Amino acid sequence: MIARRDLFRGTAGMLAASALVPALDACAKSSPKASSPGASGSGGGGKAITLGFSQVGSESGWRTANTQSIKDAAGKAGITLNFSDAQQKQENQIAAIRNFIAQKVDVISFSPVVTSGWDAVLTEAKNAKIPVILTDRQVDSDQSLYVCLVGSDFEAEGERAAHLMEKVLAGASGPITMAQLEGTSGSAPATQRAAGFKKVMDASDPSWKIVISQDGNFTRDGGKQVMAAFLQSHPDINALFAHNDDMAIGAIQSIVAAGKKPGTDIKIVSVDGVHDGFVAMSQGQINAIAECNPLLGPQLMDTVKAVLAGQTVDRWIKTKESDFTADQAAAALPSRQY
Ligand code: AHR
Repeated sequence: MIARRDLFRGTAGMLAASALVPALDACAKSSPKASSPGASGSGGGGKAITLGFSQVGSESGWRTANTQSIKDAAGKAGITLNFSDAQQKQENQIAAIRNFIAQKVDVISFSPVVTSGWDAVLTEAKNAKIPVILTDRQVDSDQSLYVCLVGSDFEAEGERAAHLMEKVLAGASGPITMAQLEGTSGSAPATQRAAGFKKVMDASDPSWKIVISQDGNFTRDGGKQVMAAFLQSHPDINALFAHNDDMAIGAIQSIVAAGKKPGTDIKIVSVDGVHDGFVAMSQGQINAIAECNPLLGPQLMDTVKAVLAGQTVDRWIKTKESDFTADQAAAALPSRQY
């Protein structure tokens, strides 16, 4: 079900991301599962590690790269991966986590589809003394229910995307009528990217207006359908912020179908930097991308080992990311890893 929400700049349409997800403390120390750090693939005392991992789904190119990174890194680290695909449904993730608890895995990790509704199952994991490491996305639960987060700063990504939009629109004459394709409603990246983008836009050129904003569920098809509806209701849209490349690519199809030129008639900024996003950018159809790095596998496996060894880890292990504009796309494309 797609939730529709029109956003007008200057209204209280969006809560600050920090109001929805509390800031993470600096460090967390977990109880050691064994007395000393083990060799590769062991948590301590040479015991083999089993990691239960619940993935969001396979909604985007980013997600495909993220899944591959986690599988590859687990293999390299000698960690047994019990992988479960939730198909973008919270109830499937909760069931998977309960299964991991019943199987007595050593660690649980998951990328939460939405921020809320995790307290009960996380308490069950805590009671079973199984550490939980969040990856990719945050939850709004009490911080004592998980060890740390390995993932990006989505609010910063929204701010970076807005600064890229400012660059792309620099020197534009006439009114700017902007649309926003949001990620899955209630997910950390959707809420936080929207908040970061709005924060910068509110302080930017007052004649630029975000006239419509709606959930495209991070999928290509969602982006295509929602953009087609946007163009029906607001044929004057000339700028688009898409919360990921897949929705931008779907939107491009609808823009072309409406007889307009993506990247020219409608300036487009998105987030991720997946291969297909770079191809669209090298063709001038996407104007700029704020990268969100999906290659979290190696950091996650290092964190799993550190946590099981009882070491202190940062509460938020962030990833390194860059910004790209269309003029850089062709040169950068061959070296992209995802
Ligand atoms: O949580 C990360 C986001 O989820 C990515 O930006 C998006 O492509 C994915 O579906």
